[in-house]
Amino acid sequence: MINKKLVFSGVQPTGNLHLGNYLGALKNFTSLQKEMECIYCVVDLHAITIFQKPSELSENVFKTVASFLAAGLDPNKSIIFNQSAVSGHSELAWILNCVSRIGWLNRMTQFKDKAGSDKEKEKASVGLYIYPNLMAADILLYKATHVPVGADQKQHLELSRDIAQKFNNDFKCENFFPLPEPLISKNISRIMSLRDGTKKMSKSEESDYSRINLRDSADEINKKIKKAKSDSEPIPDNLKSLEKKPEALNLLNIYSELSKNNLEKTLQDMAGKEYSFLKKKLTEILVNEITPVASEIQKLLDDKSHLKQILINGSEKANIIAEENLKKIRDIVGLL
Ligand code: AMP
Ligand code: TRP
Repeated sequence: MINKKLVFSGVQPTGNLHLGNYLGALKNFTSLQKEMECIYCVVDLHAITIFQKPSELSENVFKTVASFLAAGLDPNKSIIFNQSAVSGHSELAWILNCVSRIGWLNRMTQFKDKAGSDKEKEKASVGLYIYPNLMAADILLYKATHVPVGADQKQHLELSRDIAQKFNNDFKCENFFPLPEPLISKNISRIMSLRDGTKKMSKSEESDYSRINLRDSADEINKKIKKAKSDSEPIPDNLKSLEKKPEALNLLNIYSELSKNNLEKTLQDMAGKEYSFLKKKLTEILVNEITPVASEIQKLLDDKSHLKQILINGSEKANIIAEENLKKIRDIVGLL
C-alpha cells in the first residue's frame, strides 16, 4: 500500500511562542502547506503532563492558534485544531502504550531533563513519562508521513518510527503505519537561549530575557538583544573561532537565518566588527520580522469566537480522518 504524503506537527500551549518555535517550526509549517496536505495541532493533552492552571491553559490554546495564523498558516489550506477535541488521540495512545517498551521510554532525554534528578523523578506525572507514546499516536492516527519539528524532537520522532514498525510487525500488517520522517531545517534547527548558549530557547526558562517572544514589542526586542550575552572580542572571520562561544554563534545564526544568508557569508561581512554592530543589525531585522506578527496575534486574540470556530472546523475535519483510521486499527488489534 502506498501512503500519500501527509504532514503532521504539534505545538504545546504552555505560554507565548518564541523565536525558536517560529524559526524552528512555524516557518517550516507555512512553507509546507503550499506543497502538501498538512495537519497542525495544538497539543493540549501534552501540556497537562505538567500541571497547568485551567484558565491559563485555555488562554494559551487561543494564543497558540493565533500565533499559527499570524505566522501564515491558513485554515483553508491546513487542518488546524486542538488535540483534546479529537478523542482518537487518547484512544490510539492507549493502544500504543501497549506496543511501546519501557526500555525505549527510559532512553528519552527530554523526560530526564524535565523530570530532574532521580529523587524528583518519583514525583513526575506518569503522563510526562509516556508523553512520547502520545506523540506517536498524534502522528500515526493520521498516518502522517512527514513531521516538521526542531532538532529537540528528533529522538521522539525516532521512537514514533520504532512504535509504528513494531505495531506493523506484531500485528502482521506490513506498511499499515508509514514510518514518519522528521523534517528538521538544517541551518536553524535549534535556537539557543540568549542568556546561556548551551540551553535551547524555551517557554519554560524563568528569565524572559532568555527569549524573544512573538508578542514582544520593538522596545522589548531592543532591550533583550542589548542584554544578550555575546563576546568581548570582535567577530571572527571563521567558524572555528566560535566553537567555545555558543552565545555569539547563536546571535550570528539567528541573524543569518533572518537575513537569508548562510553563516559563512555573515562572517565574511561582519569579521572584525564589534558585537554591538551585529546587535544593532539583528535588532532591526528582528523588529521588522516580529512586530507585524505580534500585532496580528493581538488582533486575532481580540476575536476569540473566530479562533474558536477555526478550531471547531479543524477538529471536525481531523476527526473524519482519525475515525476512519481508528476503525481499521481497532479491527487489526481485535477490539470488537
Ligand atoms: P514546543 O514549544 O516544545 O511545543 O515546540 C514546538 C515546536 O518548536 C517543536 O517542533 C520544537 O522542536 C520547536 N522548537 C521549540 N524550541 C525550539 C528552539 N529553541 N529552537 C528550534 N526549534 C524549537
Ligand atoms: N513534543 C512536541 C514538542 O514538545 C510537541 C508534539 C506533540 C508534536 N505531538 C507532536 C510534534 C506530534 C510533532 C508531532 O515540541
